[in-house]
Amino acid sequence: MKKVGVLGCGLMGSGIAEVCAKAGYATVVREVDEGFLKKGMDRLARSLSKAVEKGKLSAEDRAAIGGRLSGTTSLEELKDCDVILEAIVENLDLKKETFGTLDRVCKPETIFCSNTSSLTIIEMSMATKRPDRFAGLHFFNPVPVMRLVEVVKTIATDPAVYQEMVAFGTKLGKIAVRANDSTGFIVNRLLVPYLLDAIRALEQGVGSIEDIDNSMKLGCGHPMGPLTLLDFVGLDTTYFISQIMFDEFKEQRFAAPPLLKRMVLAGWNGRKAGRGFYDYSDPQKPVPQKF
Ligand code: CAA
Ligand code: NAD
Repeated sequence: MKKVGVLGCGLMGSGIAEVCAKAGYATVVREVDEGFLKKGMDRLARSLSKAVEKGKLSAEDRAAIGGRLSGTTSLEELKDCDVILEAIVENLDLKKETFGTLDRVCKPETIFCSNTSSLTIIEMSMATKRPDRFAGLHFFNPVPVMRLVEVVKTIATDPAVYQEMVAFGTKLGKIAVRANDSTGFIVNRLLVPYLLDAIRALEQGVGSIEDIDNSMKLGCGHPMGPLTLLDFVGLDTTYFISQIMFDEFKEQRFAAPPLLKRMVLAGWNGRKAGRGFYDYSDPQKPVPQKF
């Protein structure tokens, strides 16, 4: 495997592209338009600069990584990739449409992977003629830092392809865990109800935004409180995930709290939007919102 195609250069796609290029793969990232591409590539460049400043990456290595990275708005440019890592918005129809097109563009051997948080991989794979060469590769935010990757096997994934993806995840510097194609896999099955419950606690006046976050940080040793983590993941993404998980399990704990829906309707999508449970006008000093 030499060349990787990444779909989407948002929070996750930019991080995934960074770790692929760092691991020595020629990496081409595809976005829908030049504006989104520039925004994502700028985020990636800032992450590399930070690593150089902190002495974690040499200037020569940074230049080599930059040489392995390219951006495009055309799916055609992904035709000779050996593996495709999809990280576009959490929407089944969009993912199916994109994979359907790529199935016609890419060589038959190319392996397709989705970074979906909650969608069913087999459903996406059916938009292609290669369900046997289709798996899930679920990374965590921020991708350059979080050590885990969930490698997801569907009932149709060829065992040899699956093994290749476990090895690939390991080559990217991650610890690979094996998960079946069950909605939310391992981490989100456990994490999402917790995050949604934090919003319900806020709605019910159990505590303030700061007190809920401090409780889980200082009382349980979490690196971030749940409302800070929700802003970090993206409230739009969490809202899509909750709808998909509720649809699958029909359990109240996966249902989107009304406040989450209203914040997404208002465009308060968290840190990436400058506003969520906190106001990020000064990103170094987030201020809790008053509702
Ligand atoms: N890119 C690269 N490096 C980054 C980074 C980024 N975006 N953000 C932080 N870092 C690095 C920093 O440079 C720093 O490195 P050193 O220790 O070598 O100096 C290190 O990470 C720690 O960063 P900070 O000191 O700035 O801040 P911190 O100690 O608060 O850590 C954090 C930041 C790693 C994000 C930490 O708060 C954390 O682990 N938060 C929880 C994240 C989490 O739970 N992610 C999973 C989300 S769920 C998901 O992803 C799945 C899904 O489907 C929704
Ligand atoms: P994001 O909103 O930051 O980025 C999504 C990007 O996809 C946007 O830049 C958008 O322009 C682009 N896009 C939309 N349609 C596209 C298309 N047809 N082709 C190419 N690009 C397209 O979202 P994100 O947080 O990076 O999430 C991306 C995926 O990763 C989702 O499936 C999400 O569930 C999953 N995920 C997110 C997190 C997280 O913490 N945010 C963690 C793990 C997995």
